[in-house]
Amino acid sequence: MSRFSEPQHAAFRALNDSLSFDWRLGPYDVQQSRAHAGMLAAAGIISDVERDELVGALDRVERELADGAFPFADGDEDIHMAIERRVTELAGRVGGKLHTARSRNDQVATDVAMFVRAHAGRAVEQTSRVAWTLVDVAERHLDWPMPGYTHLQRAQPVSLAHHLLAHVEMLSRDRERFAETRRRAAVSPLGSGALAGSTLRLDREAVARELGLSGVTSNSLDAVSDRDAAVELVFDCALAAVHLSRLGEEIVLWTTREFGFLELDDSFATGSSLMPQKKNPDVAELARGRAGRAIGDLTGLLATLKGLPLSYNRDLQEDKRPLLGAPRALVETLEALAGAVETARFDVERMGLALGGGEALATDVAEYLVSRGVPFREAHEAVGRAAALASRTGRALASLTAAEWKGFHAAFGRDVARCFDPGRSLSRRELPGAPGPRQVARQIARWERELAR
Ligand code: ARG
Repeated sequence: MSRFSEPQHAAFRALNDSLSFDWRLGPYDVQQSRAHAGMLAAAGIISDVERDELVGALDRVERELADGAFPFADGDEDIHMAIERRVTELAGRVGGKLHTARSRNDQVATDVAMFVRAHAGRAVEQTSRVAWTLVDVAERHLDWPMPGYTHLQRAQPVSLAHHLLAHVEMLSRDRERFAETRRRAAVSPLGSGALAGSTLRLDREAVARELGLSGVTSNSLDAVSDRDAAVELVFDCALAAVHLSRLGEEIVLWTTREFGFLELDDSFATGSSLMPQKKNPDVAELARGRAGRAIGDLTGLLATLKGLPLSYNRDLQEDKRPLLGAPRALVETLEALAGAVETARFDVERMGLALGGGEALATDVAEYLVSRGVPFREAHEAVGRAAALASRTGRALASLTAAEWKGFHAAFGRDVARCFDPGRSLSRRELPGAPGPRQVARQIARWERELAR
């Protein structure tokens, strides 16, 4: 660059270079350059022959990047400059026309929009696939009663299918968010130039159409400094990762000897280098732990944007690591966790045993009294006293005799024992969204319809 008489200091170059991570933008950069060259020719700014020479060189660059044969050079600061340098090497002097009426500022903003669009689209598919796996596992374990928990204490009966479908709800919200992010990212900043557009008569709409984007940005200052689409994608990834960490935590708990609800397939478990008996749920722990990185990506990106004056500032280069890394980390977690759940063996007996003592049916007993006209507070109080007795004497709530129940409230009859049948309890929970078998079957049918779309 003729403005400078000294080469860059090595220490500055190390800070300045982004090629080691932004090479992932290569395919988008080539695609937008092809569209840009086409538009320059259509607008009469370059000739059709020149366009063909540029496009020919770009096609070759695309192949080289795909094959890992692209010859990166020492001075390549970022992927945009590397591609332009290579195009000029291949096409000669006309290569210098590719950057006409384009700045790296609108160029990188366009790559970011394209990247977000592509990866949000992929995330829609991947979250659907994992949701589908969970629906499938739920369907294979229909009507398996288990305790539901609040405060991690046994609370009320639910079914394994209902529990798994709770995670499907989270994933499907993630899927909708990715779809929204994809839609909102589809605006082309190209033609905003460095910050103030261009004196040349570009056809911005044509480039947007060519790139499959739905329109062009409306303010050049905003366009080159806006990273909202990137933040949204990274946020979507962070929230999905948080959801997966919750599933991961449950797998960790459920595989303990103490719970024993689930055993991971050997292909998704690890041993210990020291303790021969160990079978560890690393897959679930990593899913839990990765959420930390995902949250870090989001907060890091937001912190980079905070307080930046308009328009482009070099700080924005720091958007790349979170943006390029977050979707990849999420996909790995999604795929591994889906495989782990798909191949896991659930233990119906252990789940039944956890319900066996009857604690999780205490509310059913209170509702039994309500159905006999007892005010709920009074019923709650009576069953609470029974639960205290059971706990004090180390007995199961389900083992209390009819006479003992009668002692806690006069409205109890012999048929109170029926309350302790978990299957019966579940079959009576048929409000919309509740764990009753008919409700669960309806939800499974709904997911099968929705996820097939
Ligand atoms: N590598 C840079 C980035 O990612 C490209 C834009 C550089 N623009 C500039 N004016 N220095 O932000």
